[in-house]
Amino acid sequence: MKFSKRLDQLPAYPFVEISRVIARKRAEGADVVTFGIGDPDIPTPSPIIDRLARASRDPANHRYPETDGLPQVREAIAAWYKTRFGVDHLDPASETLPLIGAKEGIGHAAFCFLDPGDVALVPDPAYPVYDAGTLFAGADSHHMPLTQENGWLPDLSAVPAEVAKRAKVLWLNYPNNPTGAVAGAGYYRQAIDFARQHDVALLHDAAYSEVVYDGYKALSFMEIDGAKDVGIEFHSLSKCFNMTGWRFGSVVGNADMIQALFKIKSNLDSGIPQAIQEMAIEALTGPQNHIDENNAIYQSRRDRVMDALIHIGLRVEAPKAALYLWARVPEGYTSASFTAQLLDDTDIVVTPGSSYGAGGEGYIRLSLTTPDEMVDKGIQRLRSWRIPPPKE
Ligand SMILES: Cc1ncc(COP(=O)(O)O)c(C=O)c1O
Repeated sequence: MKFSKRLDQLPAYPFVEISRVIARKRAEGADVVTFGIGDPDIPTPSPIIDRLARASRDPANHRYPETDGLPQVREAIAAWYKTRFGVDHLDPASETLPLIGAKEGIGHAAFCFLDPGDVALVPDPAYPVYDAGTLFAGADSHHMPLTQENGWLPDLSAVPAEVAKRAKVLWLNYPNNPTGAVAGAGYYRQAIDFARQHDVALLHDAAYSEVVYDGYKALSFMEIDGAKDVGIEFHSLSKCFNMTGWRFGSVVGNADMIQALFKIKSNLDSGIPQAIQEMAIEALTGPQNHIDENNAIYQSRRDRVMDALIHIGLRVEAPKAALYLWARVPEGYTSASFTAQLLDDTDIVVTPGSSYGAGGEGYIRLSLTTPDEMVDKGIQRLRSWRIPPPKE
């Protein structure tokens, strides 16, 4: 069989590997505690499920959906941006588009902007799909380091002039996976100026905008003047509405960019099942109180797991948002060797920071979407673990 060169270049998706490790360990009889993938353990709120039950019985929803979604779902997306962020300038018909999860839109967006030889500016570490889409489009990623010193915000002035010239796309993601960092209006303004100056599309991924702690409120990049001239924002119901399993995301912003993504998508997919679009309408326009309730659960887990990590000598700071702790591994360990040691000694699964790019080396990521009983078990095991000296 002759497969494409592209396939050879594509690394295995990190969570496929992690799921295999968990399955193998469990098959061996281990009682695995996983802080791996960010997949809310809290069920989807009942009114949203009730809406699905009703919608699934309507024969109109048994047929092909349209790629651009029901007009009502696009109106619900625009209305949510208005109530949540005060963004009242989105035209539902031309400036919103539903997605089969944000991942799908993010992956496909590369095809709208990138040809072979072009450059995408991608933070490092980052959600792996920005790089994967770039690779599918035959373009090159230029990695912009995220460091504690730069507040995990790429230093746009450090992008070399010749790279900026070839760049067509700038990816940003706040609240950030994996670091938990957030961005303020000043940073978005700088990014919009950069995008204007170098004529690049600014693609902002706001999948975690609602997962926030200590009273923090995340901004939408669409709140900033000029955002719609240069960019689009991806969003997702996965993390904020406990809906990873249902697959619903959205993108809003620049009409030409949305139209380009629609053209790509309509050639590849046939839209989101309509009953799921109805769930999304319910989620976006219905009561939002579960968001604070979920965040209180995640925040308590954040604090308890952080204490345990500090107890065993790891350095970690309390994130203001997103679902993750981003902890430095001890001196002498790599992300992978520490992850392996932890698994061997305690049957605890975490994600090595290096899965998010070379810039994640030296860190591990712990997801807070682990059920409380498992969190307690994990904390107990961590607290009684003595980290052995690293192997030479
Ligand atoms: C930064 C970021 N963007 C997008 C997604 C994908 O979201 P969805 O479930 O809507 O595809 C994830 C999922 O982990 C993510 O971490």
